[in-house]
Amino acid sequence: MSGQGPFETNSVTLTRFLLEEGQKARGTGELTTLLNSLCTAVKAISVAVRQAGISHLYGIAGSVNVTGDQVKKLDILSNELVINAIKASFTACILVSEEDEHAIILEAGSRGKYIVCFDPLDGSSNIDCLVSIGTIFAIYKKTTDGEPSELDALQPGRDLVAAGYALYGSATMMVLSCGQGVNCFMLDPAIGEFILTDKDVKMKNRGNIYSTNEGNAMYFEPAVTEYLQKKKFPKDGSAPYGSRHVGSMVADVHRTMMYGGVFLYTANVKSPQGKLRLLYECNPMAYIMVQAGGMATTGTQNVLDIQPVDIHQRVPVVMGSSDDVREYLAIFMKHARK
Ligand code: F6P
Repeated sequence: MSGQGPFETNSVTLTRFLLEEGQKARGTGELTTLLNSLCTAVKAISVAVRQAGISHLYGIAGSVNVTGDQVKKLDILSNELVINAIKASFTACILVSEEDEHAIILEAGSRGKYIVCFDPLDGSSNIDCLVSIGTIFAIYKKTTDGEPSELDALQPGRDLVAAGYALYGSATMMVLSCGQGVNCFMLDPAIGEFILTDKDVKMKNRGNIYSTNEGNAMYFEPAVTEYLQKKKFPKDGSAPYGSRHVGSMVADVHRTMMYGGVFLYTANVKSPQGKLRLLYECNPMAYIMVQAGGMATTGTQNVLDIQPVDIHQRVPVVMGSSDDVREYLAIFMKHARK
């Protein structure tokens, strides 16, 4: 019996899914091991997120608690969990973390062929007030011979081997693509396993929600102002779009994938390159969007085509349902021609 009764006896767990996909691809198992190690880190982060208030994980890093231990902020703890899990898997040689200025080159004895770029806990402004936050990761292969260096991580999103995110929301969910569609796995806290709940997710071609920080409106480029005006005051008889913005990229992009619509963090006078980072925010999220049938652009370029020049580089980004992104692009290009 499976899938019919109140208790599932044949669930597709993330571990099982990875093993089956690995078998199909006749791989070495290295990517499966890497993804499993990330999965373990995500489970630990999820527990930490849920217990943060009572375990004194909120607040300023560097302070000392009553027993003399260092109080670790949740984002530093998450960074350590991801780094240690990957190190222990012997599958990667270079790690790029949002928390670390330089790439981490792993010791010769514990290296594998992958490069992992990640934001261990995205949505920093939401951590201390219990709003959804997430972990984002992007996995590349090292393509050069010789000693690994930071330069090896400067690969366009097109070359990603796998990418995904974990969302610590009303439930914890892991969203993953290894280049053959997007699958979502919900954490079942009772058994500590991620269970496949949304298979081969495809997003709507058009949604009716826009998501951006409109508090930046006075700094917006004219194209963004015109686009949002069109969404709020449509002249073709259609209903205006709804607005939803959490301020955690993972949550805003996940909703955009599930419900359709568009997420924007464009360049503006205050942030001429936009705010979000290419390697561990925009690329992995753009990869997921594209795998789900959506689009991701900077306005002038497909996000996945950008050749990075710096591991912490920022880029403007508009991603979501393909017709919504195309509509934005048409307005952006009209302004670029002026
Ligand atoms: O880059 C971190 C982040 O918290 C994203 O998750 C989020 O989309 C963005 O910053 C929000 O930035 P702002 O506060 O400028 O709207």
